[in-house]
Amino acid sequence: MTIIQTPQELQELLKNETQSIGFVPTMGALHHGHLSLIERSVKDNELTIVSIFVNPTQFLEGEDLDKYPNKFDADEKICKIAGVDILFYPQKEDMYEDDEIKVIAPNIRGFVLEGAMRPGHFDGVLTIVMKLLNIVSPTKAYFGKKDAQQLSLISQMVRNFCMKVEIVPLETVREDDGLALSSRNIYLDKAQRKEALKISSSLKKATQTVMQGNLNVKEIQEEMEKVLSPLNVEYISIVSRAFIPQKEIVIGDSIILVAAKLGQTRLIDNLWI
Ligand code: PAF
Repeated sequence: MTIIQTPQELQELLKNETQSIGFVPTMGALHHGHLSLIERSVKDNELTIVSIFVNPTQFLEGEDLDKYPNKFDADEKICKIAGVDILFYPQKEDMYEDDEIKVIAPNIRGFVLEGAMRPGHFDGVLTIVMKLLNIVSPTKAYFGKKDAQQLSLISQMVRNFCMKVEIVPLETVREDDGLALSSRNIYLDKAQRKEALKISSSLKKATQTVMQGNLNVKEIQEEMEKVLSPLNVEYISIVSRAFIPQKEIVIGDSIILVAAKLGQTRLIDNLWI
């Protein structure tokens, strides 16, 4: 596995590359969720490139940028064992200059839910993903469905800017007890970790309600609220795949999303119906 630090070196290395390239962008602190993306890329492509970059522009003032877990040594081993060919590990100065042109999230879909709670977050995500996709020029890029809104906006960016990459969405990976894997789970103490299970339990409750034939969004949200209580819930939302709010679940076109805070830690989870 080759480790590359600058966009210029990576582009030089790839300039005559004709093999299919799978790309997995990450912020490091890799877990089984990332591993499932990497394994799929290794299976689908001749070359796999993983990036590790904690992108400062997607963190808001007061968020966890400074304490975001850095586990480079462990991440490097995971990538090597998983069969990654190139690990791209740039520093901030390699990726940004002053007073840059940015990609701006769309007015409606970019500013609901995560975009409303974290205004400006998606501008940062889209800008860095645009840069990374341009540097790597992958055949396919892999993203988890856990960050559903991010996935939807990146897919829209690729469509709107006529980019050639294929975006491949993959299922959320969970602990045995249902907690969705996230690099931020390590912030949780034992009691918070237990409380956090209410998030996936509320989604299970929603599934049961839908399976019993109740497609009414308000009633499903009320059932979920009961399961989530007394967590500090930021939103429970049911939207279409295009992130338009729905009054009734549409099988095959609904996503149920939850965001809640456990102490200082924000967790998100969702269910695609
Ligand atoms: O999902 C993430 O880890 C990040 O938002 C991403 C896509 C790597 C961009 O920094």
